[in-house]
Amino acid sequence: MYCSMGQGVVLFFALCVIGSVVLAAEDRVTVGGKLFEEHCSACHSIEKGINEFGPSLYGIVGRHAASIQEYGYSAAIKASGIVWTEENIKRYLRNPQTEIRCHGVVMGRMKECLGIKMSFRGFADPKEADAVLSYLKSIGTTP
Ligand code: HEC
Repeated sequence: MYCSMGQGVVLFFALCVIGSVVLAAEDRVTVGGKLFEEHCSACHSIEKGINEFGPSLYGIVGRHAASIQEYGYSAAIKASGIVWTEENIKRYLRNPQTEIRCHGVVMGRMKECLGIKMSFRGFADPKEADAVLSYLKSIGTTP
């Protein structure tokens, strides 16, 4: 038992626990970055002001939907009126087709998919959606 093995062991054990928690958070960002590369980077840049086929995702966490003025959003996403909270991003990443109906059209607000500009099937594994969210948070949030 740890307690009977002296303070050194207890301290060592505590450091291990703290260490692995920190590592786990870093891993999620790394894993998320790889997933982003694979599934999002063809259309999205994370650089501020760089819009490609999709809008820049710099500071996306906390940003209002369709808020980059220079980007030509669909009417649908402009009408959604939502903020990209962590929860909304996670729901989108899990199941864009049904939860959000279409990419950028949120949660039953719109009956039809108007002006879909992409197809993304969503992550079946919630851990992948969480990892991408962690990655997006690591590149900046909008207060
Ligand atoms: C095939 C291209 C494509 C892929 C792949 C793609 N997106 Fe998009 N994304 C777009 C387009 C285009 C828009 C703008 C939608 C509109 O105007 O209706 C968009 C919009 C968004 C928005 C809303 C941005 C805003 O300013 O409101 C978020 C968030 C987003 N994408 C995240 C992601 C993430 C994360 C991935 C990867 C898991 C991803 N997208 C994959 C093309 C893509």
